[in-house]
Amino acid sequence: MRTPIIAGNWKMNKNIAEATALAQELRAGLAGLTGIEKVLCPAFPALAAVSDLIRGTDIGLGAQNMHWEEKGAFTGEVSPLMLQGLCRYVILGHSERRQCFGETDEGVNRKVKSALAHGLVPIVCVGETLAENEAGRTAEVVGRQVRNGLAGLTAQQVASLVIAYEPVWAIGTGRAATGAGAGAVIGLTIRGALAEMYGEATAQAVRVQYGGSTTAANIAEFMAQPDIDGALVGGASLKAAEFIQIVRVAAEMRR
Ligand code: PGA
Repeated sequence: MRTPIIAGNWKMNKNIAEATALAQELRAGLAGLTGIEKVLCPAFPALAAVSDLIRGTDIGLGAQNMHWEEKGAFTGEVSPLMLQGLCRYVILGHSERRQCFGETDEGVNRKVKSALAHGLVPIVCVGETLAENEAGRTAEVVGRQVRNGLAGLTAQQVASLVIAYEPVWAIGTGRAATGAGAGAVIGLTIRGALAEMYGEATAQAVRVQYGGSTTAANIAEFMAQPDIDGALVGGASLKAAEFIQIVRVAAEMRR
């Protein structure tokens, strides 16, 4: 049984005061919603404040990026040693990092290995662009991202991480994938690649989220898919009531 996981990716939003206020509302509203893992991913400056606020609750904390090196002359970067003990999760290879900051599958693979070596749980993002989708290249692109991004791990490591399937054309556009469409990519392409690499049992053990314009109104469609284990939520995670409702629907559907 895979425990579903709903993570809020706050992206480059919320200063410390705003993040604190949002986390306070979420702490109250998410209390008692069980059977599902809940994770908040604020920007780096707010991680410590949100960590203090959710200590002792069952809400997890995640960073949005990380360098693979432990320390050194990498101005502007944050290392696994700095996240260790502060958060449990780290989003890696988000399409915005790939598109705006030139991240490659190989770089994502280094980050994944480093995160795992430091006891962090990677949320590894994959997904095709609109052009790739329209050209019928979804399986090729997503399959490549999974194979290259998760190369050289042990089956046990793979089983412990989270993958987020986020079609780029669905992110922040209000144009979510369909449940069936996302379920097929996750079930066939992503779990298929994992099965080839690490065996069927591992492929079935990995939690795979859907991400891209998820809302309280459409989360049920994704949770109804047996291969989808929750969501990586962007815009809708910045509104407390909406995020709480997303988690509530997801928790009720998996009970
Ligand atoms: P969105 O973002 O929910 O705003 O589309 C999802 C994501 O980028 O993780």
